[in-house]
Amino acid sequence: MATANPFSDPLRFERRVPECAIVIFGANGDLTKRKLLPALYRLAHDRRLPESFAIVGNSRTAMTDEAFRERMCDSVKQFSEDTEFDPALWDRFSRNIHYVAGDMNDPALYTALAAKAEATGQKNMLFYLSTQPSYYGTVVDGLGQAGLNRCEGGWRRIIVEKPFGHDLSSAHALNQHLQQVFPERETYRIDHYLGKETVQNIFGFRFGNGIFEPLWNRRYISQIQITAAESIGVEGRGAYYQEAGALRDMIQNHLLQVMATIAMEPSAVFESDAVRDERAKLLRSIRIMKPEDVPRYSVAGQYKGFREEEGVNPQAQTDTYAAATFYVDNWRWAGVPFFIRSGKKLPKRVTDIAIQFKAAPLALFGEGSGEPNTRPNLLILRIQPEEGISLRFLSKEPGEGMRLRPVSMDFNYGTSFGERSPSAYETLLMDAMQGDATLYTRQDMVEASWKVIQPILEDWGNRKFTFPNYEPGSWGPAEADAMLGRLGLKWRNS
Ligand code: BG6
Repeated sequence: MATANPFSDPLRFERRVPECAIVIFGANGDLTKRKLLPALYRLAHDRRLPESFAIVGNSRTAMTDEAFRERMCDSVKQFSEDTEFDPALWDRFSRNIHYVAGDMNDPALYTALAAKAEATGQKNMLFYLSTQPSYYGTVVDGLGQAGLNRCEGGWRRIIVEKPFGHDLSSAHALNQHLQQVFPERETYRIDHYLGKETVQNIFGFRFGNGIFEPLWNRRYISQIQITAAESIGVEGRGAYYQEAGALRDMIQNHLLQVMATIAMEPSAVFESDAVRDERAKLLRSIRIMKPEDVPRYSVAGQYKGFREEEGVNPQAQTDTYAAATFYVDNWRWAGVPFFIRSGKKLPKRVTDIAIQFKAAPLALFGEGSGEPNTRPNLLILRIQPEEGISLRFLSKEPGEGMRLRPVSMDFNYGTSFGERSPSAYETLLMDAMQGDATLYTRQDMVEASWKVIQPILEDWGNRKFTFPNYEPGSWGPAEADAMLGRLGLKWRNS
């Protein structure tokens, strides 16, 4: 008699992962530990995985299956903040966790992986590139040469972690390389911001309601600010970060994708390519800065103390803060500035989008406070941490006369739904295993967003900045305020 699948509850969930294995390259790294294993464990906990679901980890370190399972067990305990550790569940889940040590340059690794994968009995396989980006090409070639990239009667997919390239030409070269081995429809470029519930909800908010979309354009909106602030520094990632910087690390990918989601046209259907076509179209409509405009429309910053961080060159010109003004050259958005900023060691961790609507044409009752934090006609989409949406408007103060004061109408995810939201990695892993690429970026989208930041990279690469130029715990360099000040505007300090 067939035994019931302990990871699956047929009554509770619609979406379940098909029979498959995930092969993780870079399994000894931080991402596997902090994000991937906790996400997979949570999917098992929520009974979304088939019982035979297998994980095969690879890195260079020699380790037995048992030792790898123990490490993964520790990670799940440490990083599954909102999921209680269930020893019985772990016991069943970890039986299908395997490990293959080996050098990614060595063809024997791929033969060993093929043998291990075959032993799991799975035809469908998802390869996860979580290694140093310089190995992406090597692994893709290794998989291709071992014939692991295709399978009769099953699927083979690949997830590529960020950074996807270092600039436009390296991103283009990587795309070409990948396409020789995996077709585009089996290639999943991950951007974890797109998997966040609050970013997905931008679709729901804009296109599920009839009341916002008519106002969502240049006639009613005067400016949009997108902020991703972090209070932490580089946290031991100095060596990676000094080569990347905030513009590449956050703006080229996460924040341009958020901007595209805010500004795209509605797609006719909610299907992977239809949605991605619209996002791509938006990214292609962002005005490319002329070299002479870059200093006016972008600001680089570096916090005091960055150069003393471990692994960082004491003369590093890395931007730990980046801000830019973008314009979208289409009928909906012509002339509306999109201000985007991201930085480390800012006063708090907050990611939000502030959509400033135009003021009433006549100030019948006098002006409300002009300060950005109390200004009315403001819609704030809070991505994290206090996920929700606020609408700020003027209201009459009680009492005599007609004195108006800004007030807020607030929606808060936690209190409204009272349930846990899945992490971005749970959503995205689930999607890839089900073959749904809606929340993954496509080749044309990645290249379009590199095109947008390429002039800034080139200008910054040729300049010698006087860094550091902001204090840890401040809102970044004074030049960022000046960038908005020239338009008579201010940042909203969230
Ligand atoms: C990563 C960046 O992609 O996103 C990190 O490499 C950054 O530098 C992180 O800290 C932020 O993600 P989140 O989900 O914490 O906003």
